[in-house]
Amino acid sequence: MPNAVFVAPFLLPATVRFVAAAASLPDVRLGVISQDPEDRLPEEVRAALAGHYRVSDGTDAQQIADATRVMARHLGSVDCLVGMLEQLQVPLGEVRDALGIPGMGAEVAYNFRDKARMKTVFETHGVPCARHRLVHSGAEARAAATELGYPLVAKPPAGAGARSTFRLDNDSQLESWLQADPPGEVHPVLLEQMVIGAEHSFDSVLMNGELVWHSISRYLPTPLEVLENPWIQWAVLLPRDISGPEFDPIRVDGVKGLRALGLRTGLTHMEWFRRSNGEIAISEVAARPPGAQFTSLLSYAHDVDMYAAWARLEIFDEFSPPERRYAVGAAYLRGQGSGTVVGVHGLEVLQREFGDIVVEAQLPGVGQQSSGTYEGEGHVILRHPDTAVVEAGLRRVVEVARVELGGAS
Ligand SMILES: Nc1ncnc2c1ncn2[C@@H]1O[C@H](COP(=O)(O)OP(=O)(O)OP(=O)(O)O)[C@@H](O)[C@H]1O
Ligand SMILES: [Mg+2]
Repeated sequence: MPNAVFVAPFLLPATVRFVAAAASLPDVRLGVISQDPEDRLPEEVRAALAGHYRVSDGTDAQQIADATRVMARHLGSVDCLVGMLEQLQVPLGEVRDALGIPGMGAEVAYNFRDKARMKTVFETHGVPCARHRLVHSGAEARAAATELGYPLVAKPPAGAGARSTFRLDNDSQLESWLQADPPGEVHPVLLEQMVIGAEHSFDSVLMNGELVWHSISRYLPTPLEVLENPWIQWAVLLPRDISGPEFDPIRVDGVKGLRALGLRTGLTHMEWFRRSNGEIAISEVAARPPGAQFTSLLSYAHDVDMYAAWARLEIFDEFSPPERRYAVGAAYLRGQGSGTVVGVHGLEVLQREFGDIVVEAQLPGVGQQSSGTYEGEGHVILRHPDTAVVEAGLRRVVEVARVELGGAS
Protein backbone atom coordinates (compact mmCIF):
# COMPACT_ATOMS: atom_id res chain seq x y z
CA MET A 1 0.00 0.00 0.00
CA PRO A 2 1.63 3.29 -1.09
CA ASN A 3 2.15 6.16 1.33
CA ALA A 4 1.26 9.40 -0.39
CA VAL A 5 1.56 12.97 0.81
CA PHE A 6 -0.74 15.66 -0.58
CA VAL A 7 0.54 19.22 -0.25
CA ALA A 8 -2.45 21.55 -0.08
CA PRO A 9 -1.39 24.93 1.34
CA PHE A 10 -4.93 26.27 1.54
CA LEU A 11 -7.91 24.03 2.10
CA LEU A 12 -10.25 25.87 -0.25
CA PRO A 13 -13.23 24.03 -1.79
CA ALA A 14 -11.51 23.14 -5.11
CA THR A 15 -8.43 21.83 -3.30
CA VAL A 16 -10.52 19.91 -0.79
CA ARG A 17 -12.20 18.16 -3.70
CA PHE A 18 -8.85 16.85 -4.95
CA VAL A 19 -7.72 15.91 -1.43
CA ALA A 20 -11.01 14.11 -0.79
CA ALA A 21 -10.64 12.21 -4.08
CA ALA A 22 -7.12 11.09 -3.13
CA ALA A 23 -8.23 10.13 0.38
CA SER A 24 -11.10 8.06 -0.99
CA LEU A 25 -8.87 5.81 -3.11
CA PRO A 26 -8.63 2.30 -1.74
CA ASP A 27 -5.25 1.07 -0.58
CA VAL A 28 -3.54 4.42 -0.04
CA ARG A 29 -2.24 5.87 3.16
CA LEU A 30 -2.54 9.60 2.66
CA GLY A 31 -0.96 12.40 4.66
CA VAL A 32 -1.75 16.08 4.11
CA ILE A 33 0.58 19.05 4.53
CA SER A 34 -1.21 22.39 4.76
CA GLN A 35 -1.08 25.88 6.12
CA ASP A 36 -4.74 25.69 7.07
CA PRO A 37 -5.84 23.67 10.10
CA GLU A 38 -7.01 20.13 9.52
CA ASP A 39 -10.55 21.00 10.59
CA ARG A 40 -11.05 22.77 7.25
CA LEU A 41 -11.37 19.26 5.82
CA PRO A 42 -14.72 17.49 6.03
CA GLU A 43 -14.99 14.93 8.81
CA GLU A 44 -15.03 11.91 6.45
CA VAL A 45 -11.86 13.10 4.72
CA ARG A 46 -10.06 13.63 8.04
CA ALA A 47 -11.13 10.19 9.14
CA ALA A 48 -9.52 8.70 6.02
CA LEU A 49 -6.15 10.45 6.49
CA ALA A 50 -3.07 8.81 7.90
CA GLY A 51 -1.74 12.15 9.12
CA HIS A 52 -1.79 15.91 8.83
CA TYR A 53 1.12 18.27 9.23
CA ARG A 54 0.73 22.00 9.48
CA VAL A 55 3.34 24.41 8.09
CA SER A 56 3.48 28.20 8.05
CA ASP A 57 4.20 28.44 4.31
CA GLY A 58 2.80 25.57 2.27
CA THR A 59 4.62 26.59 -0.93
CA ASP A 60 8.08 26.72 0.65
CA ALA A 61 10.23 23.80 -0.54
CA GLN A 62 12.20 23.62 2.73
CA GLN A 63 9.08 23.46 4.85
CA ILE A 64 7.50 20.89 2.54
CA ALA A 65 10.69 18.80 2.69
CA ASP A 66 10.83 18.97 6.50
CA ALA A 67 7.16 18.07 6.83
CA THR A 68 7.56 15.22 4.30
CA ARG A 69 10.45 13.81 6.36
CA VAL A 70 8.26 13.88 9.46
CA MET A 71 5.51 12.09 7.49
CA ALA A 72 8.02 9.54 6.22
CA ARG A 73 9.03 8.71 9.80
CA HIS A 74 5.40 8.47 10.82
CA LEU A 75 4.25 6.36 7.82
CA GLY A 76 7.44 4.38 7.30
CA SER A 77 8.11 6.01 3.90
CA VAL A 78 6.71 8.55 1.45
CA ASP A 79 6.34 6.97 -2.00
CA CYS A 80 4.52 9.78 -3.69
CA LEU A 81 4.24 13.55 -3.25
CA VAL A 82 1.33 15.31 -4.95
CA GLY A 83 -0.24 18.74 -5.21
CA MET A 84 -2.41 20.49 -7.78
CA LEU A 85 -1.59 24.17 -7.29
CA GLU A 86 0.39 25.87 -10.04
CA GLN A 87 2.80 27.61 -7.61
CA LEU A 88 3.58 24.25 -5.98
CA GLN A 89 4.90 22.42 -8.99
CA VAL A 90 8.50 23.63 -8.78
CA PRO A 91 8.81 23.26 -4.97
CA LEU A 92 7.27 19.77 -5.18
CA GLY A 93 9.83 18.87 -7.86
CA GLU A 94 12.64 20.16 -5.65
CA VAL A 95 11.45 18.11 -2.70
CA ARG A 96 11.06 14.96 -4.84
CA ASP A 97 14.61 15.48 -6.10
CA ALA A 98 15.99 16.07 -2.60
CA LEU A 99 14.23 13.10 -0.99
CA GLY A 100 14.45 10.68 -3.91
CA ILE A 101 10.68 10.48 -4.40
CA PRO A 102 9.62 9.42 -7.92
CA GLY A 103 7.62 11.81 -10.12
CA MET A 104 8.30 15.07 -11.90
CA GLY A 105 11.54 16.70 -10.80
CA ALA A 106 12.33 20.41 -10.45
CA GLU A 107 13.98 20.73 -13.86
CA VAL A 108 10.88 19.57 -15.74
CA ALA A 109 8.52 21.45 -13.40
CA TYR A 110 10.45 24.64 -14.10
CA ASN A 111 10.04 24.14 -17.86
CA PHE A 112 6.29 24.28 -17.27
CA ARG A 113 6.34 27.09 -14.72
CA ASP A 114 8.54 29.60 -16.54
CA LYS A 115 6.75 30.60 -19.72
CA ALA A 116 9.83 32.17 -21.32
CA ARG A 117 11.80 28.96 -20.81
CA MET A 118 8.82 26.92 -22.02
CA LYS A 119 8.68 28.87 -25.28
CA THR A 120 12.42 28.57 -25.77
CA VAL A 121 12.12 24.78 -25.38
CA PHE A 122 9.22 24.77 -27.86
CA GLU A 123 11.19 26.81 -30.40
CA THR A 124 14.23 24.56 -30.05
CA HIS A 125 12.06 21.50 -30.75
CA GLY A 126 10.05 23.01 -33.60
CA VAL A 127 6.81 23.21 -31.64
CA PRO A 128 4.69 26.07 -33.05
CA CYS A 129 4.25 28.99 -30.63
CA ALA A 130 4.30 32.78 -30.51
CA ARG A 131 7.75 34.37 -30.75
CA HIS A 132 8.77 35.92 -27.45
CA ARG A 133 11.36 37.94 -25.57
CA LEU A 134 11.87 38.12 -21.82
CA VAL A 135 12.60 41.79 -21.10
CA HIS A 136 14.23 43.28 -18.00
CA SER A 137 14.09 46.99 -18.85
CA GLY A 138 12.32 49.59 -20.95
CA ALA A 139 15.15 49.50 -23.47
CA GLU A 140 14.85 45.74 -23.87
CA ALA A 141 11.08 46.09 -24.21
CA ARG A 142 11.45 48.67 -27.00
CA ALA A 143 13.99 46.53 -28.79
CA ALA A 144 11.71 43.48 -28.49
CA ALA A 145 8.76 45.48 -29.87
CA THR A 146 10.82 46.49 -32.92
CA GLU A 147 11.94 42.93 -33.47
CA LEU A 148 8.62 41.15 -32.86
CA GLY A 149 6.20 43.80 -34.15
CA TYR A 150 2.72 44.72 -32.88
CA PRO A 151 0.31 43.58 -31.60
CA LEU A 152 2.13 42.22 -28.56
CA VAL A 153 0.99 40.59 -25.35
CA ALA A 154 2.82 41.51 -22.13
CA LYS A 155 2.56 39.15 -19.18
CA PRO A 156 4.41 37.91 -16.12
CA PRO A 157 6.63 34.87 -16.91
CA ALA A 158 4.92 32.83 -14.17
CA GLY A 159 1.43 34.29 -14.11
CA ALA A 160 -1.98 32.75 -13.60
CA GLY A 161 -5.54 33.91 -14.12
CA ALA A 162 -4.36 36.26 -16.88
CA ARG A 163 -3.37 38.80 -14.23
CA SER A 164 -1.16 41.67 -15.41
CA THR A 165 -1.65 40.47 -18.99
CA PHE A 166 -2.07 43.24 -21.57
CA ARG A 167 -2.35 43.68 -25.28
CA LEU A 168 -0.09 46.37 -26.72
CA ASP A 169 -0.93 47.68 -30.18
CA ASN A 170 1.56 50.44 -30.76
CA ASP A 171 4.49 52.43 -29.38
CA SER A 172 2.30 54.77 -27.40
CA GLN A 173 0.58 51.87 -25.58
CA LEU A 174 4.00 50.35 -24.97
CA GLU A 175 5.22 53.63 -23.45
CA SER A 176 2.14 53.98 -21.21
CA TRP A 177 2.59 50.42 -20.03
CA LEU A 178 6.30 51.04 -19.37
CA GLN A 179 5.36 54.10 -17.31
CA ALA A 180 2.76 52.25 -15.25
CA ASP A 181 4.43 48.90 -14.73
CA PRO A 182 8.04 48.89 -15.93
CA PRO A 183 9.90 45.57 -16.17
CA GLY A 184 13.05 45.27 -14.09
CA GLU A 185 15.86 42.84 -13.28
CA VAL A 186 13.81 41.16 -10.55
CA HIS A 187 10.48 41.55 -12.36
CA PRO A 188 11.12 40.68 -15.99
CA VAL A 189 8.14 40.63 -18.32
CA LEU A 190 7.39 38.31 -21.17
CA LEU A 191 6.54 40.02 -24.44
CA GLU A 192 4.99 37.77 -27.06
CA GLN A 193 3.71 38.29 -30.55
CA MET A 194 -0.03 38.29 -30.23
CA VAL A 195 -1.62 35.29 -31.86
CA ILE A 196 -4.94 36.16 -33.50
CA GLY A 197 -7.25 33.20 -33.59
CA ALA A 198 -9.59 30.90 -31.73
CA GLU A 199 -8.31 29.76 -28.34
CA HIS A 200 -8.66 26.18 -27.14
CA SER A 201 -7.41 23.85 -24.46
CA PHE A 202 -5.81 20.44 -24.86
CA ASP A 203 -6.06 18.50 -21.62
CA SER A 204 -4.23 15.24 -21.81
CA VAL A 205 -2.70 12.28 -20.05
CA LEU A 206 0.70 10.99 -21.03
CA MET A 207 2.01 7.73 -19.66
CA ASN A 208 5.67 7.01 -20.24
CA GLY A 209 5.69 9.70 -22.89
CA GLU A 210 2.72 8.29 -24.83
CA LEU A 211 -0.62 10.01 -25.25
CA VAL A 212 -3.29 7.81 -23.66
CA TRP A 213 -6.19 10.26 -23.49
CA HIS A 214 -7.06 13.84 -24.34
CA SER A 215 -9.84 16.39 -24.31
CA ILE A 216 -10.24 19.53 -26.38
CA SER A 217 -12.27 22.59 -25.49
CA ARG A 218 -12.97 25.89 -27.17
CA TYR A 219 -12.87 29.21 -25.33
CA LEU A 220 -15.70 31.60 -26.23
CA PRO A 221 -14.06 34.12 -26.64
CA THR A 222 -10.40 34.28 -25.51
CA PRO A 223 -9.78 35.17 -21.84
CA LEU A 224 -7.87 38.28 -22.95
CA GLU A 225 -10.89 39.53 -24.92
CA VAL A 226 -13.06 38.84 -21.89
CA LEU A 227 -10.77 40.92 -19.70
CA GLU A 228 -10.61 43.73 -22.23
CA ASN A 229 -14.40 43.90 -22.50
CA PRO A 230 -16.11 44.09 -19.11
CA TRP A 231 -19.52 43.25 -20.60
CA ILE A 232 -18.42 39.87 -21.97
CA GLN A 233 -19.16 36.73 -19.97
CA TRP A 234 -16.78 33.89 -20.72
CA ALA A 235 -17.83 30.42 -21.82
CA VAL A 236 -16.04 27.16 -22.59
CA LEU A 237 -17.34 24.41 -24.85
CA LEU A 238 -16.18 20.79 -24.84
CA PRO A 239 -17.53 19.34 -28.09
CA ARG A 240 -18.58 15.73 -27.83
CA ASP A 241 -16.71 14.62 -30.94
CA ILE A 242 -13.07 15.68 -31.08
CA SER A 243 -11.89 12.89 -33.36
CA GLY A 244 -11.82 14.97 -36.57
CA PRO A 245 -8.70 15.76 -38.60
CA GLU A 246 -8.98 19.45 -37.65
CA PHE A 247 -7.57 18.45 -34.27
CA ASP A 248 -4.72 16.30 -35.60
CA PRO A 249 -2.22 19.18 -35.47
CA ILE A 250 -2.75 19.78 -31.75
CA ARG A 251 -2.59 16.04 -31.04
CA VAL A 252 0.77 15.88 -32.80
CA ASP A 253 2.33 19.19 -31.70
CA GLY A 254 0.76 19.10 -28.24
CA VAL A 255 2.40 15.79 -27.46
CA LYS A 256 5.65 16.91 -29.09
CA GLY A 257 5.60 19.98 -26.82
CA LEU A 258 4.93 17.94 -23.68
CA ARG A 259 7.75 15.53 -24.48
CA ALA A 260 10.08 18.43 -25.24
CA LEU A 261 9.38 19.88 -21.79
CA GLY A 262 10.36 16.53 -20.32
CA LEU A 263 6.99 15.17 -19.22
CA ARG A 264 6.79 11.39 -19.00
CA THR A 265 3.59 10.72 -17.07
CA GLY A 266 0.91 13.16 -15.97
CA LEU A 267 -2.29 15.06 -16.60
CA THR A 268 -1.61 18.48 -18.09
CA HIS A 269 -3.63 21.47 -19.20
CA MET A 270 -2.45 23.11 -22.44
CA GLU A 271 -3.82 26.21 -24.15
CA TRP A 272 -3.47 26.76 -27.88
CA PHE A 273 -4.74 28.86 -30.76
CA ARG A 274 -5.92 28.16 -34.25
CA ARG A 275 -5.00 31.04 -36.51
CA SER A 276 -7.28 32.05 -39.36
CA ASN A 277 -4.94 30.34 -41.83
CA GLY A 278 -5.56 27.06 -39.99
CA GLU A 279 -2.11 26.82 -38.40
CA ILE A 280 -1.89 26.25 -34.67
CA ALA A 281 0.24 27.91 -31.99
CA ILE A 282 0.67 26.52 -28.51
CA SER A 283 0.22 29.18 -25.87
CA GLU A 284 1.15 27.55 -22.59
CA VAL A 285 0.81 24.37 -20.59
CA ALA A 286 0.50 23.60 -16.89
CA ALA A 287 1.74 20.35 -15.36
CA ARG A 288 -1.31 19.93 -13.17
CA PRO A 289 -5.04 19.35 -13.48
CA PRO A 290 -6.90 22.36 -14.90
CA GLY A 291 -8.72 24.95 -12.81
CA ALA A 292 -11.79 27.06 -13.61
CA GLN A 293 -14.14 24.11 -13.13
CA PHE A 294 -12.40 22.28 -15.97
CA THR A 295 -11.83 19.16 -13.92
CA SER A 296 -15.59 19.08 -13.30
CA LEU A 297 -16.26 19.70 -17.01
CA LEU A 298 -14.03 16.75 -17.88
CA SER A 299 -15.90 14.64 -15.32
CA TYR A 300 -19.30 15.54 -16.79
CA ALA A 301 -18.19 14.98 -20.40
CA HIS A 302 -16.89 11.49 -19.65
CA ASP A 303 -19.24 10.51 -16.83
CA VAL A 304 -16.30 9.74 -14.54
CA ASP A 305 -14.73 11.36 -11.50
CA MET A 306 -11.69 13.08 -13.01
CA TYR A 307 -10.58 14.26 -9.55
CA ALA A 308 -10.18 10.64 -8.51
CA ALA A 309 -8.76 9.66 -11.91
CA TRP A 310 -6.02 12.29 -11.48
CA ALA A 311 -5.27 11.11 -7.94
CA ARG A 312 -5.02 7.49 -9.16
CA LEU A 313 -2.67 8.51 -11.94
CA GLU A 314 -0.46 10.43 -9.51
CA ILE A 315 -0.39 7.80 -6.79
CA PHE A 316 -0.70 4.48 -8.67
CA ASP A 317 0.52 5.43 -12.16
CA GLU A 318 -2.78 4.05 -13.43
CA PHE A 319 -5.27 5.66 -15.78
CA SER A 320 -8.22 4.12 -17.61
CA PRO A 321 -8.96 6.42 -20.57
CA PRO A 322 -12.62 7.37 -20.23
CA GLU A 323 -14.92 7.59 -23.24
CA ARG A 324 -16.44 10.95 -24.12
CA ARG A 325 -20.21 10.62 -23.79
CA TYR A 326 -21.49 14.19 -23.83
CA ALA A 327 -20.83 17.70 -24.99
CA VAL A 328 -20.40 19.96 -21.99
CA GLY A 329 -20.05 23.68 -21.54
CA ALA A 330 -19.61 26.23 -18.81
CA ALA A 331 -20.89 29.78 -18.85
CA TYR A 332 -19.17 32.03 -16.33
CA LEU A 333 -21.50 34.57 -14.76
CA ARG A 334 -19.67 37.82 -14.48
CA GLY A 335 -20.76 41.00 -12.81
CA GLN A 336 -21.12 44.27 -14.66
CA GLY A 337 -19.63 47.23 -12.85
CA SER A 338 -17.70 46.94 -9.62
CA GLY A 339 -18.27 46.26 -5.96
CA THR A 340 -20.48 43.50 -4.65
CA VAL A 341 -23.32 41.54 -6.22
CA VAL A 342 -26.59 43.44 -5.80
CA GLY A 343 -28.75 41.38 -8.11
CA VAL A 344 -28.79 38.39 -10.46
CA HIS A 345 -31.23 38.58 -13.35
CA GLY A 346 -32.54 36.24 -16.01
CA LEU A 347 -32.32 33.03 -14.03
CA GLU A 348 -36.05 32.27 -14.39
CA VAL A 349 -35.72 32.34 -18.19
CA LEU A 350 -32.71 30.03 -18.06
CA GLN A 351 -34.41 27.66 -15.65
CA ARG A 352 -37.36 27.44 -18.03
CA GLU A 353 -35.27 26.93 -21.16
CA PHE A 354 -32.36 24.88 -19.87
CA GLY A 355 -33.47 23.44 -16.55
CA ASP A 356 -33.10 19.90 -17.86
CA ILE A 357 -29.57 20.24 -19.24
CA VAL A 358 -28.00 22.17 -16.35
CA VAL A 359 -25.84 19.72 -14.40
CA GLU A 360 -24.24 22.24 -12.07
CA ALA A 361 -24.97 25.82 -11.12
CA GLN A 362 -23.09 27.99 -8.72
CA LEU A 363 -25.04 31.20 -8.73
CA PRO A 364 -23.63 34.49 -7.49
CA GLY A 365 -25.12 35.48 -4.15
CA VAL A 366 -26.21 38.99 -3.22
CA GLY A 367 -23.45 40.62 -1.17
CA GLN A 368 -20.70 38.51 -2.79
CA GLN A 369 -17.54 40.47 -3.67
CA SER A 370 -16.64 40.73 -7.36
CA SER A 371 -13.88 38.25 -8.18
CA GLY A 372 -12.28 40.69 -10.61
CA THR A 373 -11.36 37.78 -12.89
CA TYR A 374 -12.64 36.51 -16.21
CA GLU A 375 -14.22 33.61 -14.33
CA GLY A 376 -16.67 36.01 -12.72
CA GLU A 377 -18.87 35.41 -9.73
CA GLY A 378 -20.49 32.09 -10.55
CA HIS A 379 -21.02 29.53 -13.28
CA VAL A 380 -23.53 27.25 -14.93
CA ILE A 381 -22.58 23.92 -16.52
CA LEU A 382 -24.67 22.44 -19.34
CA ARG A 383 -24.51 18.91 -20.70
CA HIS A 384 -26.20 17.21 -23.64
CA PRO A 385 -25.25 14.49 -26.16
CA ASP A 386 -25.59 17.02 -28.99
CA THR A 387 -22.80 19.63 -29.15
CA ALA A 388 -25.03 22.12 -30.99
CA VAL A 389 -27.51 22.10 -28.11
CA VAL A 390 -24.80 22.90 -25.58
CA GLU A 391 -23.25 25.58 -27.77
CA ALA A 392 -26.58 27.32 -28.33
CA GLY A 393 -27.34 26.99 -24.61
CA LEU A 394 -24.07 28.65 -23.62
CA ARG A 395 -24.70 31.57 -25.95
CA ARG A 396 -28.18 32.00 -24.51
CA VAL A 397 -26.95 31.85 -20.88
CA VAL A 398 -24.34 34.56 -21.36
CA GLU A 399 -26.91 36.66 -23.22
CA VAL A 400 -29.69 36.36 -20.65
CA ALA A 401 -27.98 36.02 -17.26
CA ARG A 402 -26.93 39.34 -15.81
CA VAL A 403 -25.04 39.82 -12.58
CA GLU A 404 -25.37 43.34 -11.28
CA LEU A 405 -22.61 44.79 -9.14
CA GLY A 406 -22.91 47.92 -7.08
CA GLY A 407 -21.71 49.92 -4.11
CA ALA A 408 -18.11 50.00 -5.42
CA SER A 409 -15.77 49.37 -2.54
N1 LIG B 1 0.81 35.38 -27.39
C1 LIG B 1 -0.50 35.55 -27.19
N2 LIG B 1 -1.32 35.84 -28.21
C2 LIG B 1 -2.64 36.04 -28.03
N3 LIG B 1 -3.25 35.97 -26.83
C3 LIG B 1 -2.48 35.67 -25.76
C4 LIG B 1 -1.08 35.44 -25.87
N4 LIG B 1 -0.60 35.17 -24.64
C5 LIG B 1 -1.65 35.25 -23.82
N5 LIG B 1 -2.78 35.54 -24.47
C6 LIG B 1 -4.14 35.71 -23.91
O1 LIG B 1 -4.04 36.02 -22.55
C7 LIG B 1 -4.62 34.98 -21.74
C8 LIG B 1 -3.78 34.76 -20.52
O2 LIG B 1 -2.47 34.38 -20.90
P1 LIG B 1 -1.79 33.08 -20.30
O3 LIG B 1 -2.70 31.92 -20.50
O4 LIG B 1 -0.42 32.98 -20.85
O5 LIG B 1 -1.70 33.52 -18.80
P2 LIG B 1 -2.18 32.86 -17.46
O6 LIG B 1 -2.00 33.95 -16.47
O7 LIG B 1 -1.54 31.55 -17.28
O8 LIG B 1 -3.70 32.65 -17.66
P3 LIG B 1 -4.66 31.53 -17.10
O9 LIG B 1 -4.25 31.17 -15.72
O10 LIG B 1 -5.92 32.32 -17.19
O11 LIG B 1 -4.56 30.42 -18.09
C9 LIG B 1 -4.69 33.79 -22.68
O12 LIG B 1 -5.73 32.91 -22.29
C10 LIG B 1 -4.94 34.44 -24.01
O13 LIG B 1 -6.32 34.77 -24.17
MG1 LIG C 1 -3.47 30.49 -19.50
